[in-house]
Amino acid sequence: MSASRSVLLIIGGGIAAYKVLELIRRLKDHGIASRCILTKAGEEFVTPLAVSSLAGERCFTDLFSLTDEADIGHIALSRSTDLVVVAPATADLIAKMATGLANDLASTALLATDKRILIAPAMNPRMWEHPATRRNMAQLETDGVLVVGPNSGAMAERGENGPGRMAEPHELLAAIEQALAGETRLSPVGAIGFLGRNPGGPSGAPKLLAGKRVLITSGPTHEPIDPVRYIANRSSGKQGHAIAAAAAAAGASVILVSGPVAIADPEGVTTIHVESARDMLAAVEGALPADIAIFAAAVADWRVAEEAPGKLKKRAGAGAPALALVENPDILATISAREIDRPALVVGFAAETDHVIDHARAKLAKKGCDLIVANDVGGTGVMGGDANTVHLVTSDNVETWPTLPKGEVASRLIAHLAAMPQASETER
Ligand code: C5P
Repeated sequence: MSASRSVLLIIGGGIAAYKVLELIRRLKDHGIASRCILTKAGEEFVTPLAVSSLAGERCFTDLFSLTDEADIGHIALSRSTDLVVVAPATADLIAKMATGLANDLASTALLATDKRILIAPAMNPRMWEHPATRRNMAQLETDGVLVVGPNSGAMAERGENGPGRMAEPHELLAAIEQALAGETRLSPVGAIGFLGRNPGGPSGAPKLLAGKRVLITSGPTHEPIDPVRYIANRSSGKQGHAIAAAAAAAGASVILVSGPVAIADPEGVTTIHVESARDMLAAVEGALPADIAIFAAAVADWRVAEEAPGKLKKRAGAGAPALALVENPDILATISAREIDRPALVVGFAAETDHVIDHARAKLAKKGCDLIVANDVGGTGVMGGDANTVHLVTSDNVETWPTLPKGEVASRLIAHLAAMPQASETER
């Protein structure tokens, strides 16, 4: 293998094995060579020929192959690498690892290796949640095995939904990069996040966005009616501020443009305070260029056409004043459409009360952003609350996360964004 970094990729028998083909290609693009072991069950899903063609060398399948042992013994195979990656890590492979079984090439290599091991579990949600798998995963945690995923979502089996989808190739790549860099705590992806011996606190979080400039909007806007009254909404700013804090913890240089909120400015973040949508747009434009822009603010859609210069007075018999409204500028759409200084990755939010995914898809197209974080605010107390259930909607994928504290949503979102291909680009 000519690349300076390499992984030993053990491909288990699950439908997610096809994603590993894409992973091998991405690893190569990042200068990481893959040497592959395909299990017997894995061969049912991808062929040795496909794996070998992409990896650029023959893949290994058989423990008792005389030619393989003559080429490179299974002990050497397990050690002539920088990292061992198991993807998909099936319930069977996880059970073998937890008990130390060695009855084929993959399990023998896993037992013989002196390198760190990263696994990407993939299985049916019932199997994932089964007490046996829980026990086995706890054992792997004790053994210091790193874990990426699984994600929650629809399964290949009709009607099955829940945790068990293997992490996507870009998430696997990010986890491999972190593991190769010596991280002991992987950024959380999917249903369980990470395992590892030395989980760090926020300050120990991996610097996934080091060198990146991230611009975030948060909170509501206030649209003045007169000097004392305004139109507003119930946004607390908790989610946007938590994202700003998570981006700063990930090493980014963060500018937060915040509407009026009752919470403190996040530490280590440059916060610009604004009132109205027009002020917010001006502050955002003034803060460009940025590599990543996240528009979490609940911007008022309308403002009063003409703000009264003095307090509107109640006059006997005159009735209520008629307020003519005009539309506010759409900050997300304006920045997404920029020819110059458009951030490489633009993220919008969508608070919906019904048909959440459909509306989010429509919003993605209408606003021209790269990702919509959609949440159902229909009577769930999300606005102002401390927990959030989100769906990450891109043009070709929907990922649903379990209900999580807003801080957890923030750190997962930052890890997710850092792993998106656009995050490696600089602003256009
Ligand atoms: O159209 P809607 O308000 O549902 O879209 C929500 C997304 O658009 C959020 O990301 C919000 O921050 C952004 N937005 C904006 N400017 C507006 C309205 C919404 O940036 N005037």
